[in-house]
Amino acid sequence: RTKLPQYNTVDDAVELLRNAKKVIVLSGAGISTSCGIPDFRSSTGLYAQLQQEGKYELDDPQQMFDIQYFKEDPEVFYSFAKQIYPSNFTPSPCHRWIKLLEDRGVLLRNYTQNIDTLESLAGVTKVLQCHGSFKTASCLRCRTRVPGQTIEPYILSSQIPYCGICRTQRDAELEAIKVYKAQRRKEKGKGRATDWGSGNDTGESDEDEWGRGEPGIMKALDSEFDECLFHDREEVDLLVIIGTSLKVAPVSEVLTHIPHSVPQIFINLTPISHVHPDICLLGDADTIVTYLSSKLGWEIPPPAAVLH
Ligand code: OAD
Repeated sequence: RTKLPQYNTVDDAVELLRNAKKVIVLSGAGISTSCGIPDFRSSTGLYAQLQQEGKYELDDPQQMFDIQYFKEDPEVFYSFAKQIYPSNFTPSPCHRWIKLLEDRGVLLRNYTQNIDTLESLAGVTKVLQCHGSFKTASCLRCRTRVPGQTIEPYILSSQIPYCGICRTQRDAELEAIKVYKAQRRKEKGKGRATDWGSGNDTGESDEDEWGRGEPGIMKALDSEFDECLFHDREEVDLLVIIGTSLKVAPVSEVLTHIPHSVPQIFINLTPISHVHPDICLLGDADTIVTYLSSKLGWEIPPPAAVLH
């Protein structure tokens, strides 16, 4: 996509916001740093912290959120997850600005990469947590989905949550194996041969014989990204990107998936060079959205008002 030449300045951004009817806000960790939550890639970010701590024995700190790595060794994620579990944070002016867009009836959707749920806490309802959230979890084996609260005690005690459905199935199968073994021992006692495989009855445990291994592991952080973007790309008339390095697909690809005629405003502390939004407003995101609002005559709701 090449830049739209007619949009460059802060005043252009103000006018775009004034006239937009269907805004997509694409947000990242930079809108929550002022709440005390580190971003990922800054020098003080989570990846630098994980690298420094070194206690999780990762080759690369990004493995902490890598699904393949998670499948191989879920213990690592669940020994760390309580550190990023949403707790007592207050939404930033940016979160409240997104709520303001929704209140004004112009927010098509907020695509957030954050899992801190601060958009919801600010009262934003049209929000999609692209990297999932702790609201739901699903079984990697049978896909059963459960509310996040179900696995909360496991996260807070750094344990791997297993799927209740798979566990029940497994228990039933283990029970069947026990019955079969008892039957087999009885038949052996009577001196009759069976053709039930060549396993040695004495040493092996019932667990070993349960063909499908452990019950399914519950994966926190579910999402519905593709369906939402498929719908929204037809309607959006302005894209506002805030507080993200746009390094992670598929969210980073939103810029190319929406019609190229839709103007793009990028608000971030640091510049990016791999994509070319029309207007780049560099600086602290809270300060920038507050400034834009003052130019528009809009008032960002105070924290107390959005919490009740
Ligand atoms: P990053 O840490 O990659 O980028 C955050 C951006 O926010 C950086 O460019 C900062 O300069 C900027 N920033 C920080 N504080 C800011 C402030 N006060 N005002 C304005 N900008 C500020 O975080 P994300 O882009 O969100 O994925 O990371 C994307 C994904 O990478 C995360 O969702 C996570 C990670 O791997 C998963 O967990 C799957």
